Amino acid sequence: MNKLKVIILAGGQGTRMKSKIPKVLHKVLDRTMIDYVIEASNDINADDIMVIVGHQSAMVKAVLGSDIKYRYQKQQLGTGHAVMQALDFIEDDENILILYGDTPLIKKETLEKLVRIHKKERNYATVISSYVDNPTGYGRIVRENGIFDKIVEQKDTNDREAKINEINTGVYIFNSNALKTALNNLSNNNSQNEYYLTDTLELIKNTGNKVGIMVADDNEEFLGVNSKYELATAIKVMKNRINKHHMDNGITIEDPDSTYIGKDVVIGEDTVILPGCIIEGKTTIGSDCIIGPYARITSTEIKDCVNIAQSTVLSSYINSYTTVGPYAYIRPNSKIGEHVKIGDFVEIKNSTIDDNTKISHLTYVGDSDVGKNVNFGCGTVTVNYDGKHKHRTIIEDDAFIGCNTNLIAPVRIEKNASTGAGSTITKDVPQNALAISRVKDQVNKLDYNTKK
Ligand code: UD1
Ligand code: CA
Repeated sequence: MNKLKVIILAGGQGTRMKSKIPKVLHKVLDRTMIDYVIEASNDINADDIMVIVGHQSAMVKAVLGSDIKYRYQKQQLGTGHAVMQALDFIEDDENILILYGDTPLIKKETLEKLVRIHKKERNYATVISSYVDNPTGYGRIVRENGIFDKIVEQKDTNDREAKINEINTGVYIFNSNALKTALNNLSNNNSQNEYYLTDTLELIKNTGNKVGIMVADDNEEFLGVNSKYELATAIKVMKNRINKHHMDNGITIEDPDSTYIGKDVVIGEDTVILPGCIIEGKTTIGSDCIIGPYARITSTEIKDCVNIAQSTVLSSYINSYTTVGPYAYIRPNSKIGEHVKIGDFVEIKNSTIDDNTKISHLTYVGDSDVGKNVNFGCGTVTVNYDGKHKHRTIIEDDAFIGCNTNLIAPVRIEKNASTGAGSTITKDVPQNALAISRVKDQVNKLDYNTKK
């Protein structure tokens, strides 16, 4: 069996994006464009993958991590020049699949089909083409008597070629020997003075070796993102694809247009997603939940029958039958139990909240461990920061925290203890006790306002 290797080009600057960030790092939903291309390459069980980096390579490498093989293209002299940087990676008698890092919508099934056709037709190179309404910007596939002749880049087209609406998708597979020979003979004699990878196909054809064309079934998949407008188009396509997958699995999405779900998100049956939600990262949501409207949930595990309205939840865990929001903010590393109520304008950070606890309004709970059946009055604040260090607040089961209590951490409210409304608690409160700390007697200055 010939090895299948993948080379992904990600060296270009992406001038047309008008951005400080290298093009392939722009995000389609919660992932970078190149991430999707790498995932598709992994999904077809390629023997090896290499990414060509160049422009802002350090940033690209930092994002992609050290598990990936790289070659550095010092100057961006074209897509053919980029592949030349990987010559030592290309061995004899292999199949080399080349992908561009700016085509995030590519599907694994399509790549598998390309490999199949390439082998079956015994081609030396096979390119995926696509018929589009507006070919502007893409390389055109020129055929002679129906078979591959050459690819002409937009900037090099004559009037006749410019009208061709069969375009080069930028997805190719090569016989490694043919590719190497062609790269050695590549010139940059064109309007952009670049070494075009697209020219290698013509060179291969000219040596009498067969170049095949696989016409794509679905041209949406090959959108090359060169501008912010095209990025928005890619996001739209990816979003619809992911939303459809969830709807097919029994999830109700009321308004798919305004629902943004990342590719790694898992959602259980009969969960309803109301309009305006962004659900991303490694989030899992159980069955029968109601999410939204307008919730942002990132990398959080949510069990069954949970409701989250108009709230932000980051890197946390929420157990079944709990309700969150409207307007709650659950910050990272929070663990919330079953049947808990996190109400309006409540912020939870780095805390555990055990079952049946109610934190209904206007409260901040940070760096705290809260037991079961605790009731928070409106306006409670855990005072966790002394200006230098963070301290924990412990509230044991069945405690009752009066409205507007300040809990100066480190502090412990023991089981079944209460605090009086308006208290500032600086000392631990023993089991079953009521702690009150506020002026002893209310003073009423009679007729105070009438004398003025
Ligand atoms: C390319 C194709 C065009 C095709 C289109 C499909 C060539 C010459 N043209 O055009 O036929 O229709 O893609 O989307 O290949 N890159 C490098 N180093 C370089 C230049 C580019 O790594 O020196 C990388 C870029 O980062 C990008 C990819 O190659 O990921 C494609 O480059 P881009 O400039 O976007 O090519 P297009 O003009 O879109
Ligand atoms: Ca492109």
